[in-house]
Amino acid sequence: MGEALNGLKRSLMCGEPRENNVGQKVTLMGWVQRNRKLGGLQFIDLRDRTGIMQIVFGEEINAESFEKAKAVRPEYCIAVTGEIVKRQSPNENMPTGMVELMCESIKVLSESETPPIYIKEDLDAAENIRLKYRYLDLRRPDMQRIFMIRSKAAMAVRNYLNDNGFLEVETPILTKSTPEGARDYLVPSRNYPGMFYALPQSPQIFKQLLMVSGFDRYFQIAKCFRDEDLRANRQPEFTQIDLEMSFVEQDDVMAMNEGLVAHVFKEVLGHEIKLPIRRMPFKEAMEKYGSDKPDLRFGMEITDITEAVKDMDFVVFKSAIENGGSVRALCLKGGADLGRKQLDKLVDFVKTYKAKGLAWIQLKEEGNKSSIAKFLTDEVTENIVKTMGAENGDAILIVSDKNSVVFQSLGALRLELAKQFDLIKDKSEFNFCWITEFPLFEYDEEEGRYFAAHHPFTSPMDEDLEMLDTNPGAVRSKAYDLVLNGEELGGGSIRIHDSSLQTRMFKALGFTEESAQERFGFLIDAFKFGPPPHGGLAFGLDRMAMFLAGTDNIKDVVAFPKNQNAYCYLSEAPNVVDQKQLDELGIDKKDKSE
Ligand code: AMO
Repeated sequence: MGEALNGLKRSLMCGEPRENNVGQKVTLMGWVQRNRKLGGLQFIDLRDRTGIMQIVFGEEINAESFEKAKAVRPEYCIAVTGEIVKRQSPNENMPTGMVELMCESIKVLSESETPPIYIKEDLDAAENIRLKYRYLDLRRPDMQRIFMIRSKAAMAVRNYLNDNGFLEVETPILTKSTPEGARDYLVPSRNYPGMFYALPQSPQIFKQLLMVSGFDRYFQIAKCFRDEDLRANRQPEFTQIDLEMSFVEQDDVMAMNEGLVAHVFKEVLGHEIKLPIRRMPFKEAMEKYGSDKPDLRFGMEITDITEAVKDMDFVVFKSAIENGGSVRALCLKGGADLGRKQLDKLVDFVKTYKAKGLAWIQLKEEGNKSSIAKFLTDEVTENIVKTMGAENGDAILIVSDKNSVVFQSLGALRLELAKQFDLIKDKSEFNFCWITEFPLFEYDEEEGRYFAAHHPFTSPMDEDLEMLDTNPGAVRSKAYDLVLNGEELGGGSIRIHDSSLQTRMFKALGFTEESAQERFGFLIDAFKFGPPPHGGLAFGLDRMAMFLAGTDNIKDVVAFPKNQNAYCYLSEAPNVVDQKQLDELGIDKKDKSE
């Protein structure tokens, strides 16, 4: 049973009353955090998204309200009216703790069953229950704080881009496959049986069309859909801060975007990002950190020791070098004390990244220990130690293989060691870095052909243009990623606006004229009508919100997220549909048992 407001108006939020409100008669509305009896009085903690206020009920204050309050239970939604008074025993831990409200009248706006999860900070409840009752989970103050942060960030983005001349434009959700290269979500068409729309993986093509339209600067806080394997930082539908600019080069886009990030971090956290953000070419990132999204909050760089070990009579190293690979290593300070078991675990760890093994040398006062002791001469050891800049007490951890495996395994091992040995000292640091000069293509060994590393409209670097047809693997692109603490926050590129270059690019990617026309025809056609030079970038808004809110789980920053298998516990989507709907769409369901 719920009472109606009947004209009653809220005058303050629950988190607002302070000493300067003493003597005022106010009305608050919210949810009952708790209700307790104490010395002949009834105390209700009333909560809304701004905070908690103590409400006092008593025989002397108002007998009717006092009686009514006794029956109120947690999560009832109520309205209370009364005078704000100074508290006799203030609570320093509550922002409203200097005052309380003496309740003269109470309305029970609606009752509540006992909630299946506690409405409190730091809830330790099973994720599926939290997601099933997400609307209650979202009542919790820590969740509300996250969504206030996310909203503030989105608002700061809009303000900054508006101030810089960007137009906010929406682009279609029911569209054609976009070029990001993940699996599409498809929507069957009723008007064209057997045909499908694809949900956009990004607004990429449409934003480029808007540049052809002369919109000059576009942005959108855009929903994107990708049917890919989910991780802690991936949702099947997520949000991009997507933007595109005309008449610009790489430096212009990067400057605009670091300004945007700096503005958001300042507005939301009061945090000052030092500009310009440092830049690192892809090659350097791979060689030093084994990753195109290096975590630069700690050092421990990868070192190439190929030269130092090249004369060693050790077949594993030898064959890697002969096959064009390399031998590289990490130096773990204090690693000489690791026990055999710990070292074995590290060996197993790199094997999950396709490395065949991990050789180690422990530098000890009383004599070195090594998994490859019988192949090491004093001279080689000395060379390695010198190259690494290692000292007594350290462990040198070595992988030899083709470069991609060396980088991947040592890059992962570097992060793992940082975790195990707590190498990131300042947990509150935001360490930004641009990665530039990405390869234009990636070679897929299984398919035996090149793929666009970013997407097929990304411009090659001018100085590498001539290799486009002869040595595509070596061509670098005008693509850039913004990396924060080892996560990719956003990425973009300068696009190709010259149609003859675009044709060469499609050719290098193995598209025929027809297949390119079939997939991207509407963009190719548009580019016949004076496209301006343009480029842009998209940030993951969810990922940005994760950093701002200090969580490493993307579900925390999405109001109604899906689980690891893209299932929504709340709405129970995906689900079966009526036969009638399928008939209209001309879809025959395959029996699962078939
Ligand atoms: P890209 O594919 O790099 O670029 O995506 C841009 C940013 O979007 C975020 N992101 C995701 N966030 C959550 N869940 C996901 N599944 C997910 N996938 C991507 C990341 C990423 O950096 N059209 C180009 C941009 C451009 O060239 O302008 C694009 O979509 O933070």
